[in-house]
Amino acid sequence: MKIYEINEFGIENLTLTNRETPEPKEMEVVVKFHAASLNYRDLMMVNGWYNPNLKRPRVPLSDGAGEVVSVGSAVTKWKVGDRVTPIFMQGWIDGAIDFQKARTALGGDVDGVLREFGAFDENGLVCIPEHLSYEEAATLPCAAVTAYHALFCSDGLKPDDTVLLQGTGGVSIFALQFASHFGAKTIITSSSDEKLERAKELGADEFINYKEREDWDKAVSELTEKRGVDHIVEVGGAGTMAKSINAVKMGGHIAVIGVLSQGDGVNPVSILQKSIKMQGIFVGSRQMFEDMNRLISQNHIKPVIDKTFDFSEIQDALKYMQSGSHFGKIVIKY
Ligand SMILES: NC(=O)c1ccc[n+]([C@@H]2O[C@H](COP(=O)([O-])OP(=O)(O)OC[C@H]3O[C@@H](n4cnc5c(N)ncnc54)[C@H](OP(=O)(O)O)[C@@H]3O)[C@@H](O)[C@H]2O)c1
Repeated sequence: MKIYEINEFGIENLTLTNRETPEPKEMEVVVKFHAASLNYRDLMMVNGWYNPNLKRPRVPLSDGAGEVVSVGSAVTKWKVGDRVTPIFMQGWIDGAIDFQKARTALGGDVDGVLREFGAFDENGLVCIPEHLSYEEAATLPCAAVTAYHALFCSDGLKPDDTVLLQGTGGVSIFALQFASHFGAKTIITSSSDEKLERAKELGADEFINYKEREDWDKAVSELTEKRGVDHIVEVGGAGTMAKSINAVKMGGHIAVIGVLSQGDGVNPVSILQKSIKMQGIFVGSRQMFEDMNRLISQNHIKPVIDKTFDFSEIQDALKYMQSGSHFGKIVIKY
């Protein structure tokens, strides 16, 4: 089978090579991948920014979707032909995360999905919602589960809450879709008015161009009659955190997710004086993935795919992500 490996860091150094097609062990199923999607983490992984000590060679990408083509002798959950996506952390089935579970992430700790076939423990997969194609399902394991975890499992979104979403990348657009379907009010920021228009079509209520309004925290305050928002899906990181702390309401919730921008440290005084709840989010468990898939199926939610590249165009796809031109998800078709 064809696979890509990280040997040396850098997009241009991704190596296309061959490995033997896996056979399933007793408890394993073999999945033939039809699609994958990119996350910002994959870009960092390939460039060596995520973990400079990454064990190599390593197959990158955490998110794929495909069909079961063979099953081990003790497998009870799956049969040939089932449509599945592997979960991000193969060892995190349910409950709270721990160190061991956190060390089982695809495309980092273990080989990822940028390969034609993969063998997975039968517990490390979920069913694809019926109304989704392989390309659409491939967008779910990291970005969508992270958004779901941030909104519904960390501090319980309520229908009359207001949520702030930062930018129009994968996590933020899923969070916009979920929050809108749930009936919450959404404020979204972007560097582009054109992208804000697209966010409007997806149900966003209020819009801030963070290039034009560098004081976007003040803009949030104006939009909420100085109260601040109930939740922030914080993907900006060091460069946005101080303003997020200004933009959240007293006792509000910040889901700490991303590292998209650089900046200075934050002052803890306002965190304590505003009694802000800050929760670090690391994707989510299989249980969260399954609960999210129910929400997606019941509401017929369709992931937003910006652009699809062929398996052979992975370098172009990663460069496209690096350019930040996308809205929603970038997909790789096998
Ligand atoms: N903790 C976790 O479990 C977890 C899971 C998934 C992702 N993440 C992290 O979350 C972040 C987003 O991931 P992703 O895959 O959704 O990324 P992505 O699809 O590449 O999103 C990039 C977009 O973010 C926006 N952005 C960039 N800098 C920004 C800033 N300073 N302020 C506001 N928006 C900004 C831009 O949107 P516009 O073009 O509209 O401005 C950009 O196009 C990454 O740091 C990723 O590592 C963490």
